[in-house]
Amino acid sequence: MTQVAAPNVGFAGGDETPPGTTLRPALPEEEVAVVALRRACGWSADSVPQQFRAMHEGRRDIWIGECDGYLVGTITVEWSADDRQLADGSTTAHISNLVVHHRYRRRGIGRGLMGAVERAAAERGCSVMTIGVDDGNSYAHRLYERRGYVYLKDVHAPWGLIHILYRRLG
Ligand SMILES: CC(C)(COP(=O)(O)OP(=O)(O)OC[C@H]1O[C@@H](n2cnc3c(N)ncnc32)[C@H](O)[C@@H]1OP(=O)(O)O)[C@@H](O)C(=O)NCCC(=O)NCCS
Repeated sequence: MTQVAAPNVGFAGGDETPPGTTLRPALPEEEVAVVALRRACGWSADSVPQQFRAMHEGRRDIWIGECDGYLVGTITVEWSADDRQLADGSTTAHISNLVVHHRYRRRGIGRGLMGAVERAAAERGCSVMTIGVDDGNSYAHRLYERRGYVYLKDVHAPWGLIHILYRRLG
């Protein structure tokens, strides 16, 4: 895991933030730490540079969870996507790339990160969130269903089938 210096940005993750955890937007210089976290969790980090470029261009936000001075979780929210059903730049936004380091799982950090980006989306005027889950990832699927996400459609990615879920905000 990579240590991060908590900037004094005054972000609050809201009442879903687990004790001892800070949830906040990532800084541009934290790209390397996000790459390291994804690799440590066994997930590809190939798209991380592209995600940070999209953040720089305002098409996406990346949030991180910080605990004990380490970057322990990350999530992204896309404001617009090629598939307008997923994110249309105004009313609908798309969550992706949620990952929490295995040592820090089951403490509410995943749920807290989702809450943080859902609130950010609501503050921007979005009324619908979408999220994709790989076929067979029943753990993540359950987490999303418990937050109120329901089935929208299936899409085919190069690595397999993805179930797209959505929920209304507010
Ligand atoms: C999916 C993932 C992000 C969840 O992260 P997490 O931080 O463990 O999630 P949470 O702690 O918020 O919630 C998960 C579970 O912990 C439970 N939990 C939350 N706080 C808890 C606490 N203080 N004590 C015990 N359990 C707790 C939740 O109720 C939930 O219960 P469940 O296991 O019965 O479903 C994580 O497992 C992960 O990184 N997986 C690999 C990557 C992945 O699959 N990402 C999703 C791609 S679609």
